[in-house]
Amino acid sequence: MRIDIRDGHLGDFEALLNLYREVAAVPGGLLRREAEITPDYIRYFVEHARARGLSVVAVDEDRHVVGELHGWVPNIRQLLHVMSDLTIAVSPRAQGQGVGRRLFEGFLARVRERFSGVERVELFCRSDNARAVALYKSLGFIEEGRLVGRVRDERGFVADDLIMTLRF
Ligand SMILES: CC(C)(COP(=O)(O)OP(=O)(O)OC[C@H]1O[C@@H](n2cnc3c(N)ncnc32)[C@H](O)[C@@H]1OP(=O)(O)O)[C@@H](O)C(=O)NCCC(=O)NCCS
Repeated sequence: MRIDIRDGHLGDFEALLNLYREVAAVPGGLLRREAEITPDYIRYFVEHARARGLSVVAVDEDRHVVGELHGWVPNIRQLLHVMSDLTIAVSPRAQGQGVGRRLFEGFLARVRERFSGVERVELFCRSDNARAVALYKSLGFIEEGRLVGRVRDERGFVADDLIMTLRF
């Protein structure tokens, strides 16, 4: 699959709504479930990423959005060296083909280039999300902590959340 990584823009709104709904419909990945992927949620992260961070999208050869990764620096003086609130979603039909890796490489390169004050990139990830954990570790993220039983799904299944960080 030929993939290009570019900055996200406001015209991606509908594509992001569809992408996040599609990804959230599959259990075990995103924290939010499909019904929680509302236009307000997409607006929330698009606006925060535009104001204080970054959104990168992966597009296929037909220019369809098949993945997105965003994050931002909190509006708190003592956290201005932290890139936080990261979320990544790759369409189920594009997973396992290197899209997630390309998104992270594009995101981290832009962080280094545009956010010279950032020294720490942090994210949360379910400990049983094997693909995501493997990807983050291969990019240099370390497991900094485990939040035991933080996630409880609709069937009552409980999972731990990992806090994973990359230091520049
Ligand atoms: C997690 C996710 C972002 C990874 O993106 P992806 O495009 O599927 O992953 P990639 O193809 O780039 O693979 C990256 C690495 O994951 C690992 N990996 C891939 N498939 C795997 C599998 N089935 N099991 C375990 N590890 C796997 C490999 O280490 C791979 O590295 P490689 O380049 O050396 O092969 C994507 O699958 C996704 O959106 N999942 C649903 C939402 C989600 O879980 N978001 C993250 C929440 S923390």
